[in-house]
Amino acid sequence: MLKIDNLHAEIDGKEILKGLTLNVGAGEVHAIMGPNGAGKSTLSYVLAGRTGYEVTAGSVTFDGQDLLALAPHERAAAGVFLGLQYPVEIPGVSNLMFLRTALNAQRVQRSEKEASGAEFMKLVKAAAGELGLPYEMLKRSVNQGFSGGEKKRNEMVQMAVLEPKLAVLDETDSGLDIDALRVVSDGINRMRSPDRATLLITHYQRLLDYVVPDFVHVLVDGRIVRTGGAELAHVLERDGYVSIAA
Ligand SMILES: Nc1ncnc2c1ncn2[C@@H]1O[C@H](COP(=O)(O)OP(=O)(O)OP(=O)(O)O)[C@@H](O)[C@H]1O
Ligand SMILES: [Mg+2]
Repeated sequence: MLKIDNLHAEIDGKEILKGLTLNVGAGEVHAIMGPNGAGKSTLSYVLAGRTGYEVTAGSVTFDGQDLLALAPHERAAAGVFLGLQYPVEIPGVSNLMFLRTALNAQRVQRSEKEASGAEFMKLVKAAAGELGLPYEMLKRSVNQGFSGGEKKRNEMVQMAVLEPKLAVLDETDSGLDIDALRVVSDGINRMRSPDRATLLITHYQRLLDYVVPDFVHVLVDGRIVRTGGAELAHVLERDGYVSIAA
């Protein structure tokens, strides 16, 4: 589904990704772990098409298409979702308005029928209910004044409504309390299906107890330096990155 080959990318002339290769099959969950500054968020931004990041070599193919040739909104319509490490606040735009606009923009781009008000409300209420985000919060401006954990839950509500084919979740577990971690993990697990894939960027093995990955990759200095199964996360938790980076 997602094929990243020898990806090199830089920001402000500084090379961050230095030949990253990764293949994610449909239905799979891949965890990406690695030290601070290794390039994990950069990878997520390059996949989503954030401006300022220049790809200098390599390729990314998503569902057989050249992902890098698509504009960010086309990538979203193709089914790429990015859950941000630091979700942004959008004052003056309600969650409901934001989500409905995003959903329908994607549907129009895919030549599908737009969701009616009733259909949309049903979708969003179900998603918020499952993720324990009070409906009242959906009426508030996107993430404004939300606590860290509420922002992360809100990202998951967005994901549940948009139903992406590829979810890239950047430290979705950080800042969640113990119960929220379970709720959000359940949300991610519910989205698991044979035609969807997930890239889970995380620092902690804890999340991977709930969302058991098919593969764990270690990203160090812009490259994947080790790949293993779920057990690799336990090894990292015990030994740190020192042994691997050497
Ligand atoms: N505009 C910029 N100019 C120069 N370097 C930058 C710029 N933006 C980001 N970087 C650097 O890129 C590197 C990779 O950052 P990135 O956010 O991808 O790391 P990360 O693996 O997600 O780390 P963390 O685990 O702390 O979230 C960092 O060293 C960061 O300082
Ligand atoms: Mg990061």
